[in-house]
Amino acid sequence: MIDDKKVIFSGMQATGNLTLGNYVGALKNWITLCNEYECFFSVVDLHSITVRQDPAELRSRARKLLTLYIAAGLDPKKNCIYYQSHVSAHAELAWILDCFTYMGELNRMTQFKDKSAKHADNINAGLYTYPVLMAADILLYQADVVPVGKDQLQHLEITRDIAQRFNAVYGDVFTIPEPYLGKAGAKIMSLQDPTKKMSKSDENLNASIYLMDDKDTIIRKFKRAVTDSEGMIQYRDEQPGIKNLIDIYGACTGKTPEETVKEFDGKGYGDFKIAVGEAVAELLVPLQDRFHELEKDKAFIDSIIKDNAEKANYYATKTLRKVQKKVGFPERIR
Ligand code: TYM
Repeated sequence: MIDDKKVIFSGMQATGNLTLGNYVGALKNWITLCNEYECFFSVVDLHSITVRQDPAELRSRARKLLTLYIAAGLDPKKNCIYYQSHVSAHAELAWILDCFTYMGELNRMTQFKDKSAKHADNINAGLYTYPVLMAADILLYQADVVPVGKDQLQHLEITRDIAQRFNAVYGDVFTIPEPYLGKAGAKIMSLQDPTKKMSKSDENLNASIYLMDDKDTIIRKFKRAVTDSEGMIQYRDEQPGIKNLIDIYGACTGKTPEETVKEFDGKGYGDFKIAVGEAVAELLVPLQDRFHELEKDKAFIDSIIKDNAEKANYYATKTLRKVQKKVGFPERIR
């Protein structure tokens, strides 16, 4: 708790171009929840280097992502929006938590298995201990709630296990966090293969809607979305393409699947796809405009980066010092 408010922590990687999946699965829920909670939203650049990055590009993407958080509607004076690499406590706590995590647990992580298959020439130890750094992110701020998409639930589970294990030895040090999934859109699927998650790293550019796609591109991609030959707009697993479009439409308009099915009863897939494209564009175009405006205000963004790094450091260090004392590190002499 901070000032009687429960705490939220969440983060995104500054790799690749953010997709509609990131927006609907995470960012949009952050905005819904942010007034009720004390929030920490990080640009998790430490996580990004588990895969090789071009340094200049990583720096530029990280700044864009931080700006995008604000453009999406998170007030940076109320929400602590900051770079993970500006708070060294993340890496320090991760080391301590590494010593409370079993290799057997890490071996089970599906994201590790997927990423090592994708980057077979660079299966580094960071990729392996990635979930422990994530646990450190969350536990440093004593987060009660972590809003994420479905693909991160396994990492939340291991975070809880690590925290419980640590608490069992040293007493109530960490708050045990709960995941938060939005009502709609916790897993947005690829437009070209609706059995696969929509992903920043997909090589097929038509598979994902990027947050910076213009309206024509958005509509064109939806028109090309893979569906089926049933010809009926129904919400069922046998029609994964249509189901995904109904989820996206619902996430953008707030309509339930039943309401959407009713609205498009008797209409063709062509009309439905255009309606989904328009709903998405309606959400993204204002965000893009705000982003371009904000990006010009270098001094403002710089001040946010500086002030929020200080705020994050303050809370993170508080937890870190407590943990260091518990495990037996000598006290600092001032
Ligand atoms: P990342 O950067 O891959 O994704 C950021 C957020 O977007 C969600 N997401 C999706 N939601 C619905 N449908 C999709 N197709 C989709 N694709 C991505 C993700 O679930 C995530 O919420 N490891 C994390 C970043 C991280 C983090 C943390 C998150 C680091 N530390 C601590 C929460 C708490 C990641 O790589 O997310």
